[in-house]
Amino acid sequence: MFKAYVITCSDKGFRGERVDTSGPYIKDYLESIGFEVIDQVIINDDLKSIQDKLVYASDTLKSNLIITTGGTGFSPRDNTPEATKKVILRDVPGISEMLRYESYKVTKKAYLSRGVSGIRNRSLIINLPGSLKAVKENLSFLDSVFSHGLKVLTLLDTDCGE
Ligand code: MTE
Repeated sequence: MFKAYVITCSDKGFRGERVDTSGPYIKDYLESIGFEVIDQVIINDDLKSIQDKLVYASDTLKSNLIITTGGTGFSPRDNTPEATKKVILRDVPGISEMLRYESYKVTKKAYLSRGVSGIRNRSLIINLPGSLKAVKENLSFLDSVFSHGLKVLTLLDTDCGE
């Protein structure tokens, strides 16, 4: 069973000024497709908070998958992509390219998300936008990443099979 960690990056959510529905949705979704979700947390949008939490989820908890939601837009406090780029050791641009491509078919605002994806040791980190609508749409595009990419990353499978 793959281990996952879910991080909501939101100043308002962290201060209790907004109810976070996106993080709990991701947790429930991942559990429904067989992941063990180690934890689902809300943190503020500080670059350092996000960076530290990503490193903790990867290095200490050995999460196979780390999904963030929020903080990928154009606001000055949207720091999630920058924090992620600081901790990943290998880029996986195709995942985020695919998410924007598929999302664009649903909303023309898809390109406002600057989310990135990458690998740190045996952890795959994927940034998703913050709204529940965006989260639901993006998760529906990630099936093959979850089913195949993580097996290769964790050495359960070394063959792409295509
Ligand atoms: N992607 C999908 N699939 N659906 C959406 O509704 N919203 C967009 C974009 N990506 C959206 C989406 C909008 S309006 C914004 S501002 C950006 O994600 C960034 O969102 P964030 O700042 O909450 O991370």
